[in-house]
Amino acid sequence: MKKIVLGLVFLGLYACSQPTRETINADEALDYCAAQVDRTLHELSNGGSIDYTMMPRNIMDSLTVWHTRKTTKEEWTSGFWPGVLWYDYEYTKDQKIKGEAEKFTESLEYFAHIPAYDHDLGFLIFCSYGNGYRLTGKPEYKNVILAVADSLATLYNPVVGTILSWPREVEPRNWPHNTIMDNLINLEMLFWAAKNGGNKRLYDIAVSHADKSMKSLFRPDYTSYHVAVFDTITGNLIKGVTHQGYADNTMWARGQAWGIYGYTMCYRETGDPKYLDFVEKITDVYLKGLPEDYVPYWDFSAPGIPDAPRDASAAAIVASALLETSTYFEGKKSEEYWNAAVKMLESLSSPVYQCRESKPAFLLHSTGHWPGGSEIDASIIYADYYYIEALMRYKKLL
Ligand code: GLY
Repeated sequence: MKKIVLGLVFLGLYACSQPTRETINADEALDYCAAQVDRTLHELSNGGSIDYTMMPRNIMDSLTVWHTRKTTKEEWTSGFWPGVLWYDYEYTKDQKIKGEAEKFTESLEYFAHIPAYDHDLGFLIFCSYGNGYRLTGKPEYKNVILAVADSLATLYNPVVGTILSWPREVEPRNWPHNTIMDNLINLEMLFWAAKNGGNKRLYDIAVSHADKSMKSLFRPDYTSYHVAVFDTITGNLIKGVTHQGYADNTMWARGQAWGIYGYTMCYRETGDPKYLDFVEKITDVYLKGLPEDYVPYWDFSAPGIPDAPRDASAAAIVASALLETSTYFEGKKSEEYWNAAVKMLESLSSPVYQCRESKPAFLLHSTGHWPGGSEIDASIIYADYYYIEALMRYKKLL
C-alpha cells in the first residue's frame, strides 16, 4: 500500500513537472478572432441589413475596411467567410454567429445547380457547407455538397488522370489540360462525398488526381510548380510553369503550402503511406527555406529578400496542416512538425501579423498575386480562414 501511495505521489509530481504543450494562448487568440468577426459583421451591416451575397475578400495595406465581392461563379474565395463564421460559432457557441454563418453559407446554394466553372468548388462549398454540415448535420447541406462534388467531377479528364483546373485558360494560353497545385484542396470534398452517400467513383478520381499531381507538379528536389500543362491526347506532361509565383523554376510559397495541406489530407483520407512520405519531403524543403519567424516570403526566390513581402496565408495554411501532420508521425519528427506549426502560430498571433485595432481582419501581410500586382501585403480572407482553423486544431490537440 505504502508503495502504491509513493508511486502515485511520484506520478503526480512527474505530471506537474512536464511542460504543457500550450505555448500560445489558444483562447486568447480565438477571443481576438471572435471580436474581429463581430467588428466585420458590424461593418457589413453598415447600420442597415447585411447583403449575404457580398463576401469579405481583402483589406489592402493602406485601407481599413473590407473590400467585399459578390458571390459570382468567378469569385473563388466566397466560401472562406462563411467558413470563418462556422469556426467562430464552434468556438463561441454563439447562436447569433450560427445564424449569420447559415445565411452567408446559403447564398452559395446555387453552385449545386450550375455547371462547374472551374476547380475551386471545394474551396467554395467545403469551407462553407462542409463546416456547416459538420456542425449542424442539416441534410440539405449534405445534398448541396454531394451535388457540387458531382459537378467538380465533370472536369476530370480520364486520359490525363486529373481535374482540369482552369477551363478558361485552355484557349488563351494554349494549356490544353491544366492542373494547378491549389486543386489538391478540392479533393477533400470528393473524398467526403464518396464516403457520405455520393458516387464511389469520386474517391478514384481524387486518388488519381493526387497521384498524377505528385508526379507532375513537383521537381526532383520536391519544390513545386504552380501549374502543370498536359497533352490531352497522350495524357503526358508538357511542362510545369508558374502563374502566381516568381518564375517557372522557383517555389511559390502558397503553392507549396497547398501541397503540404493537400497531401496530409490525402493521407488522412486514404491511409496510403506514400502520401505521408511525400508530405515529409515537401515539408522539409519548405521548412528549410523559411526566415526566422517561420512566415515565408511570398516566393522562396522573391526579388528583394529580405525586404520582399511575406505571405501570412501560406504560414496559416502550413500551420494548420502541420498540426495534423504531426499526429501521423512519432518521436522527433512529430515533435519537429508540432513545434514548427506552433512557431508559425506564435508569429501570426504577434502584433507584427495580427491586425488588432487597425482593421477588422485577423491577419496582415498576405500576398495574393504578386506577378498580377494584386493583393500584395494585404489582409486576405483565406489567411484568416486557415488561421482560425489552425487555432481550433491547436486547441483540440493540446
Ligand atoms: N487558389 C489561388 C490562390 O491560392 O491564390
